[in-house]
Parts: sequence; C-alpha cells; structure tokens
Amino acid sequence: MKIAILGTGFISRFYVESLVAQRRKDEVTMVYGRDEAKAKKFAADYNIPNISTNLQEAASHKDVDVAVIGLANDVHLDAVLACARAKKHVITTKPLGRNAKEALQMLQAVEKAGIVGGYLEDLCYTPKFLKSLAAIKSGSIGEVIWAKSRETHPGPHSDWFWDKNRAGGGAIIDLGCHCVEIARNFIGKNIRPVEVMCWADTRMHPIDAEDNAIGLVKYANGAIGQFEVSWSFRGGMDLRDEVMGTEGTIWVNNFLRTGIEMFTSGKTTSYVAEKAESTSGWLFPVGDEVHELGYNNMFSDMFDAIEKNKQPAETFYDGYIVNAILDAAYASAKSKKWEPVIIEDWRGLKEVKQKHEYADYDNNYYLIKEEILPSGEKKTIVKHKQTGSIEKR
Ligand SMILES: NC(=O)c1ccc[n+]([C@@H]2O[C@H](COP(=O)([O-])OP(=O)(O)OC[C@H]3O[C@@H](n4cnc5c(N)ncnc54)[C@H](O)[C@@H]3O)[C@@H](O)[C@H]2O)c1
Repeated sequence: MKIAILGTGFISRFYVESLVAQRRKDEVTMVYGRDEAKAKKFAADYNIPNISTNLQEAASHKDVDVAVIGLANDVHLDAVLACARAKKHVITTKPLGRNAKEALQMLQAVEKAGIVGGYLEDLCYTPKFLKSLAAIKSGSIGEVIWAKSRETHPGPHSDWFWDKNRAGGGAIIDLGCHCVEIARNFIGKNIRPVEVMCWADTRMHPIDAEDNAIGLVKYANGAIGQFEVSWSFRGGMDLRDEVMGTEGTIWVNNFLRTGIEMFTSGKTTSYVAEKAESTSGWLFPVGDEVHELGYNNMFSDMFDAIEKNKQPAETFYDGYIVNAILDAAYASAKSKKWEPVIIEDWRGLKEVKQKHEYADYDNNYYLIKEEILPSGEKKTIVKHKQTGSIEKR
C-alpha cells in the first residue's frame, strides 16, 4: 500500500511508527500538514518523499492508495470527503464524527465512492482484546451479561480537545468512543444498542465539556455495556475491561502494570509511556507500546481488507454506531433519563430474544444456587417451576 498520512500531530506519529516498523512492505508516500515546517520535519523524520499543505492535493496524489486520517475531530468530515472525491480508500482515527450526523455523512460518502472506510479503533486490536474476543466468540464465558470498559487519564495534550465545539464534547467523545466499541464487540455487533443512561460532570477543569462520565448502554438482548471515562485520573493511563458472562469472566488490563516494573531515582529521564505522569520512582513502562495499543494488528487488518476487497473488522459503519450511542449518552447526561439510541440505518439483527434458560435441578425444580460453606455444609437452593416457592435442599 502507498499511504498518505493526513496530520502531523501525536497520533500521526504513533501511526507512522507502526507503519514503518517491522519491515512492513507498505510505504508512507505523502504527508499532509497545514503547517509546512511541521510537515517537512515529519517527512524528514520518516523519509516520506512528498508533502502537501492542501488536503485535496494530498488525498488525490498519484502515489497514494489509501489515506490515514490523524487530524483533529473537526477536520475528519472534510478529510473524508476529500478522499471520497479522490476515490482513495480512507481509514480514520476515532471518533469517526463529532456526532452521528457527521459520521453518517462520512459513511454515505465512502459507500457512494465505492472505497473502503476503515475505523481506526486501535483498542479493538490489542493482543489482549483479540484473545478475549476469540474466547467469547468460542463460548468460553457463555452469554455476555455485562461488559465494562474504562479509559481514564489526566487529560489530552492539545488545545482543540478541550474546546467542546471542535472536539464534539469532552471525555465522553474522546475516550467513551473506545469503551463503547470494546463493549459492543464483546456483547455482539449485530445486537442493537437500544438506550443509554449517563452521568457526566465537569469536576476539575475550567471547560464547558465534561471531564468525567459513566454510562450504561442497554442492548436489545438485555446485555449492558458500561463505560467509565475521566480526564482527571491521576497516575497515567488506565485502560481496563471486565466482561461478565453466564459461564465465566474476563479481566483485561491493557496498559498499566503490563508486566514491567522499574524504579529510577529520576536523575536521568526518558520517555516512559503515553500519559505517564512521572519519570521517577516506581514506573510501569510498556514493552512495545505501538503493539500493545493494537496499531500493528489494526493496520494489517485494514490493508489486508483493502487488498482483498473486503471490509476490515472495524468500519465506518461501526464508527457511526458508536457516534449514535454517544449522542444518546450526551442526551441522557442532560435529561438525566434513559435516552434512545437513534440509528437511521440499522444493519444488524432486527429482533433478538432475551434468553431465560434456567438450569434444571430436576423435572419439578430449577436450581438457583449451590455452595459449600466454611462449615463443610453443602447448600442447595431451588425454585418450584409451577408454584414459584423457593426452598433449601
Ligand atoms: N488511541 C487513539 O486512537 C487516538 C489517540 C490520540 C488521538 N486520537 C485521535 O487522533 C486525532 C488527532 O489527535 P492528536 O492527538 O494527534 O492531536 P494533535 O493535536 O497532536 O494533532 C492534530 C493534527 O490535526 C491538525 N489540525 C488541527 N486542526 C486543523 C485544521 N483546522 N485544519 C487542518 N489540520 C488541522 C494539526 O495541525 C495536527 O497535525 C483526533 O481525532 C483524536 O481523537 C486517537
């Protein structure tokens, strides 16, 4: 693949680190940046042969097969439309839009142009996520009842994130998009998200957007996806997931405490990990950050999909559904009520039965609970199928 990188900021550098690593056959041939000096520096750092300060020119360049968007949230729509006009495949960082309306416009533009629209939801490509998802799909933990995902850190690194209009919101749009898509994968992407209840508040920063929030997303099969986000968490970047199934449990810690613990006096300093707050004392570095955050698997999936003319695991459609869920979260934070997820174009299952398959104790009774107590006594609690009476055996 010949790749154009649109953007020269934080995420664009992460992306290019992944794209030029490990003797990949893919080549970054173009970088777009509105600031020419930054674009030149970026091109020099990664040996990129072409630069442009014009979005359309960058996307349309003859040596570009696919454009990677790493621009601020308020530029995603324009950048996608430029790629659609140029009929160049486009893969876009999260969140897809600032809201579902923008996301739907992007989805429709790529579908009309006949190009692939990939959604760069890196946390749905981490080695730990992929292992967990495979376990869930093979039935290891039964039916998922509840999937919780948490992303918290001390706040983002650029001015535009803190501007509600430019970013589309605060911690919910910035971090909730990851959490929602993680839980949605675990619960099942073809299950319709129905409604959302969300608490959000601005606790620590002088901004109009929320810096803390918790939300519950109810799915058509009764499952609950929970997101917890914060821009005021102290101590680095906390990325954790918990999945509770009828037959098992999965706990994932994606970033902090991944296996390396290091102490340093602080007399010499070096980069530790994204959003690490300290460079001395006990530290928790991350072995291969680009890989642990899913970038390598993500780009392999995206480029394989384009080459084989199929859809990647994370598409613009997924980005659109995430935006629709987050719109409902913002509505709920305002109304303080459950708010419906409005999806104009639902492509998953139309109807899903909520499962109620209780375990039999015998022909007449359901089994509620069996437990061995510290005394050694075994307790069995059952319920009569007809009368409903609850009894001890
Ligand atoms: N884990 C992840 O997937 C992840 C992590 C960080 C950021 N992101 C996303 O990446 C995108 C960029 O974030 P970042 O952290 O790189 O921010 P950044 O501020 O470091 O970089 C933003 C880039 O957008 C450009 N830009 C901003 N406004 C522009 C405009 N009006 N016209 C043209 N270019 C403009 C800037 O020049 C810069 O190159 C955001 O959508 C963010 O949500 C994703």
